[in-house]
Amino acid sequence: MDGLREQGIPKNTAGKNDGMKVLVIGSGGREHALCWAIAKSPKCDELYCAPGNAGIDQVAVTVSIAADDLDGIMDFVRDNGVDFVVVGPEGPLVAGLVDRLEEAGVKAFGPSARAAELEGSKGLTKDLCAKYSIPTADYARFDEPDAAKEYIRVKGAPIVVKADGLAAGKGVILCRNENEAYAAIDHIMTEAAFGEAGSEVVIEEMLVGEEASFFALLDGKTALPMVTAQDHKTAFDGDEGPNTGGMGAYTPAPVITDAMAKRIMDEIITPTIRGAAADGRPYKGVLYAGLMITEKGPELIEYNVRFGDPECQPMMMRLKSDALEMLLACAEG
Ligand code: AMP
Ligand code: GLY
Repeated sequence: MDGLREQGIPKNTAGKNDGMKVLVIGSGGREHALCWAIAKSPKCDELYCAPGNAGIDQVAVTVSIAADDLDGIMDFVRDNGVDFVVVGPEGPLVAGLVDRLEEAGVKAFGPSARAAELEGSKGLTKDLCAKYSIPTADYARFDEPDAAKEYIRVKGAPIVVKADGLAAGKGVILCRNENEAYAAIDHIMTEAAFGEAGSEVVIEEMLVGEEASFFALLDGKTALPMVTAQDHKTAFDGDEGPNTGGMGAYTPAPVITDAMAKRIMDEIITPTIRGAAADGRPYKGVLYAGLMITEKGPELIEYNVRFGDPECQPMMMRLKSDALEMLLACAEG
C-alpha cells in the first residue's frame, strides 16, 4: 500500500461533487485496503475512518473513535451526516453496530448481530452445519470441563479444542495427544484464558488437507462468489515463528479450481445462507469461509463475518469494479 500519494489518490476528497459521505470502521491493513479502494470511487465525496492508522491517514480523514465505541460512532454518523458505514472488524458487528445504524436509517456494509453470530459462536455455526448437512469436522459442545475431558478420552487424539466465542484468533488449540487436549481445556475453561469466550468449548476432529479461504458477497437474498485467498500464518523467515492472524496474503488460492469453487458454493455457502435465513439470521455483507480441502472434498473450518486481514489487501488490488458500488449493493439488497 506504499506510494498512494504518488498514485495521486487524494487524502480527503471533500467537495468533489455531491457524492456520499463514507465512514470505514477499523484500524488494520484490511481497513487501509478498503479506504484505498473506496477513495478511488467517483461516488465517494468524503471518506472517514475510525480510528484508522497512519497509513489510512494518507487516503481518508481519520477520526479518533475506537471501533468498539458504538455510541461514539453513532454520534459521529449523526453529527456529520454520514451516508454509508463499512464495518471492517468482527467486534462491532457482533456487538450490533449494523443493527443500530439501520435503525437510525443509515446504510451499512456488514451483517446484523444475529447473522454475525456465525463468527461470534463457533458452536452455533457447528449446529447450523449439522442441521443443514454442511460438511465440517465431527464435533461436540461442552460448558463443563469434566465432560469435555471425558469426550477427549473417548475420542482420542489428534483433536482440536476451541473456545466458543471471539478470542482474537487465539482460541483454537490443535492437540497432538490427549494430555495437550486436557491442558487446552484447563487453559480455556478453568483458567479462563479468553474470559467469557471460553465458558463453552467446541471439541472437534482434526481435518487433514490443504487450507484455503473463500469469500462470498451477500445482499440478504443472493450469494455471489467473490474470490479465494490464502494468508501466510507463521511469523519469521522459513515459517519458523509462531502462528499469527496472517503475515501477508495472496489471491487466488490455486487449490480452489473452478470445479471446487462450484462445490463450495453448492455444498457450503448456499446451504449456510438458506439455513441462516430460515433460522432468522438473513445475511448481508461478506462471508469468509475458512475451508479444508480434504480427500472427501471441501469442509468448513469456520466462518468469519468480515473481510480477512490481510487477505483484503490483495483482494482490493485485484478488484476491477468500483469498490464503493460493490459494498453498497450488498447493503441495499
Ligand atoms: P480458526 O480460528 O477456526 O480458523 O482456526 C485456526 C486454525 O486452526 C485454522 O486456520 C486451521 O489451520 C486450524 N484448524 C481449526 N480447526 C481445525 C480442524 N478441525 N482440523 C484441522 N485444523 C484446524
Ligand atoms: N487472516 C485471517 C483472518 O482475517 O481471520
